[in-house]
Amino acid sequence: MREENQLREATEDDLDELVALWTHYIRDHRHNPAYNRVARTGFVSRRAAFASDIRDENATVFVLARRDGGLDGMISCRVETNLPYFQPHRLGRIQTPYVRPDARRKGNLKKLLTAAYRWARERELLEVRLYVGADNVVANAIAEELGFDAVGVVRRRAIDWSTPPERQVE
Ligand SMILES: CC(C)(COP(=O)(O)OP(=O)(O)OC[C@H]1O[C@@H](n2cnc3c(N)ncnc32)[C@H](O)[C@@H]1OP(=O)(O)O)[C@@H](O)C(=O)NCCC(=O)NCCS
Repeated sequence: MREENQLREATEDDLDELVALWTHYIRDHRHNPAYNRVARTGFVSRRAAFASDIRDENATVFVLARRDGGLDGMISCRVETNLPYFQPHRLGRIQTPYVRPDARRKGNLKKLLTAAYRWARERELLEVRLYVGADNVVANAIAEELGFDAVGVVRRRAIDWSTPPERQVE
């Protein structure tokens, strides 16, 4: 039988595993144009971003650690400053919620989110925000069910270099 995992904050010893999970996360988003063009140095930069989240007092990464050193899941949290003319002044940004396929549907995301909410309360935050790909039907349904209201839609349009701009708005 599979062992129960342990929820804790990631350390630099977890960086290889975090990047491995991120690779799966990106692969799951391979049909989304905002995610599927990873720079050649993308894995190196993402590793540096995880390292910064681990070191920075305004951020953290929660993981579900297995006894063999592997990770069942992760979630990154970072305090961000809102635009100066909007409230609340500070927001909690939740990124890369990911649970390994064989550890899904066992409440692992709920465990990670519970830790994220506790972390947010300890920082006196009033709100957390989470970016979900528009094409990620399951994640949007889960987010909705777990109380995340959709407050905006990020739309993308490629710049067409073969047609004059005025023809592109006809
Ligand atoms: C989204 C993801 C993190 C969910 O992880 P999980 O550990 O399976 O989630 P949980 O078991 O904690 O489920 C939480 C709730 O979400 C809902 N849920 C989870 N998986 C679901 C599915 N496949 N379909 C419908 N609802 C689902 C359920 O309401 C569940 O609560 P319940 O089991 O008490 O009914 C996981 O599927 C994943 O890593 N997906 C790929 C990466 C991704 O899309 N991340 C989100 C990007 S924002």
